[in-house]
Amino acid sequence: MISHTFAHTGPLKGTIRVPGDKSISHRSLMFAGLAVGESRITGLLEGEDVLATAAAMRAFGAQIERSADGIWTVYGAGVGSLLEPKQALDMGNSGTSTRLLMGLVASHAITATFIGDASLSGRPMKRVIDPLTQMGASIEASAGGTLPLMLRGAAPAVPITYRLPVASAQVKSAVLLAGLNTPGITRVIEPVPTRDHTERMLTGFGATVEVGEENGEKIIAIHCEADLMPCDVVVPGDPSSAAFFMVAASIVPGSDLTIMNVGLNPTRAGLLHVLRQMGADIKEVNPREVGGEPVADLRVRYAPLSGIDVDPAIAPAMIDEFPVLFVAAAIASGTTRTSGLDELRVKESDRLAAMAAALTAAGAQVEEHEDGLSIHGTGGEPLRGTANARVKSLLDHRIAMSMAVAGLVSTGGVEVDDISPINTSFPTFMGLLAEATA
Ligand code: S3P
Repeated sequence: MISHTFAHTGPLKGTIRVPGDKSISHRSLMFAGLAVGESRITGLLEGEDVLATAAAMRAFGAQIERSADGIWTVYGAGVGSLLEPKQALDMGNSGTSTRLLMGLVASHAITATFIGDASLSGRPMKRVIDPLTQMGASIEASAGGTLPLMLRGAAPAVPITYRLPVASAQVKSAVLLAGLNTPGITRVIEPVPTRDHTERMLTGFGATVEVGEENGEKIIAIHCEADLMPCDVVVPGDPSSAAFFMVAASIVPGSDLTIMNVGLNPTRAGLLHVLRQMGADIKEVNPREVGGEPVADLRVRYAPLSGIDVDPAIAPAMIDEFPVLFVAAAIASGTTRTSGLDELRVKESDRLAAMAAALTAAGAQVEEHEDGLSIHGTGGEPLRGTANARVKSLLDHRIAMSMAVAGLVSTGGVEVDDISPINTSFPTFMGLLAEATA
């Protein structure tokens, strides 16, 4: 455990560049690891979660190398030709690695064991176990449907049509990845749209993916595809990492910060809309496309924020950004109410409970409900908690970084008990924060 105190600071200034998108980085290694031939990945996020995916893809037989200039080269193993890993796959803290790779194994004639840290070992896997079992995989999980678990794939697997019972891009992607090596057509029905990187990127790698709509629900069909083509992927900056700096610059008076190269896929850009609704001053500069994704530089200037009722329909487009939105709400004037956020209880931590406890310790006024928080903001005044309020990050990178941002606007400072989880998604966070507040 490495503790760190984040203290009241002057404005955030200058220009920073956040690392590559975590969701796209995982997928680029997986899809390149399935393609036959050489793929190159530029801008890969080199955080612990993504490195866990790289290690697993190597164990499945892909050759993966990083060159000195930071470009990753992948020679894939081929769909249908994955090797059986010799050891248990250690997924660390990463739910995305676990659930997507379970999908991959489910339609191959191999057996793999998945293990992870204490946080990941408490997270629900039944949501992927159910559809993958329907496709023919056999899975022995720990009590409660959690890791460690052993998955024996089926070859051939059975194509299914699966209607997502929870809005989860990970579950959608697990089924689609299993579908790649399943005879016929596998379909996912998505009542509530979630991030669509899997659909976009698999098409780029040469898979046949059809996206349609019926009765207001999205239907994604994937055809069995023996040959994925290698591809050169350029990973845009992660909007979920940019989020911490978008909020920090919005709430620290005098800030004027430009965040370069931020991915703005509409299925990810919910926070930008919500912050603007609250009165934030965020300009999109030089909008362009990077690796098939919309991207812009964001110029964020301090602006007084007002509390709002956040529309639960926007939740999937900002599901990872709620912890830091709660920090913005704590400094806004008036009350911010959120609802429909049950999924936050099964992330790397129970993010509703974790943020309610941490923000309260830092001096914010928070009410915790079953499916959301109500936060009564200070109206622009700093948080006045006990001196050096000590808060728990609970093996959750986003709690650690959100409370770092809260520390910047607190009179007494916020001590985060363990900042090491930040390395799972944003290894350059501490350096960029020091740079922006210097
Ligand atoms: C992700 C999907 C989301 C998100 C996670 C990354 C992905 O999880 O919270 O950080 O890359 O597919 P859920 O599928 O559980 O909503």
